[in-house]
Amino acid sequence: MGAMTQFNDTSSLLAFLRSRKSASAKAMTGPGPSATQLDEMLALAVRVPDHGKLAPWRFVSFEGGARAEVGKAFAARWKVLHPEHGEESLKFVGNLFMRAPLVVAVISTASEHAKIPVWEQQLSAAAVCFNLVLAAQAHGFDAQWQTDWLAYDHEAKAAMGLAPHESIAGLIYVGRTSAALEDRPRPDAAALHTRWGA
Ligand SMILES: Cc1cc2nc3c(=O)[nH]c(=O)nc-3n(C[C@H](O)[C@H](O)[C@H](O)COP(=O)(O)O)c2cc1C
Repeated sequence: MGAMTQFNDTSSLLAFLRSRKSASAKAMTGPGPSATQLDEMLALAVRVPDHGKLAPWRFVSFEGGARAEVGKAFAARWKVLHPEHGEESLKFVGNLFMRAPLVVAVISTASEHAKIPVWEQQLSAAAVCFNLVLAAQAHGFDAQWQTDWLAYDHEAKAAMGLAPHESIAGLIYVGRTSAALEDRPRPDAAALHTRWGA
């Protein structure tokens, strides 16, 4: 089956791919996706290449009061890590997930495997992250892929429900922004391309 038969509106898909950009998690508001929309977005997100069909990823989502609840754990940890920082900083960290109506942690569950390198399992998790960004944008939401220190601190990871061997591939913030998104200069793909052959 050729690509043309897989979607019937190639020009709008190409226009979307040419113009899509991420929003800033700093400026997101609600409403966020409904439960049905979130289910649909995650169903789209897992349609990624996955060597060995291991599905080496999973999701934890934070909405409503759960954002402030986990924020308490982040702030407590921040206080231990940076006792020199003041109340302002603690408040910011405690409110990190409050910046958007929905935050989805995409978790890499990669582990040693006889045939599939861990790196390839992690690459598949990255594909899930970007596919989730695309799925959110296709649903009319703004999104941003972040990691932040939260992804690299074992206590913050535990607060988000990760087991010790799991990693955060991305914290995907999903919401709406009222201001037009500013693009940034994009890399020149042609300059990055070594072309062999015709
Ligand atoms: C793995 C990964 C982690 C990121 N972590 C952060 C982060 O913690 N904070 C941040 O502001 N941007 C972070 N970014 C960058 C944002 O996603 C940024 O908005 C994005 O590169 C712009 O994307 P666009 O090409 O979709 O417009 C991260 C990107 C990746 C791929």
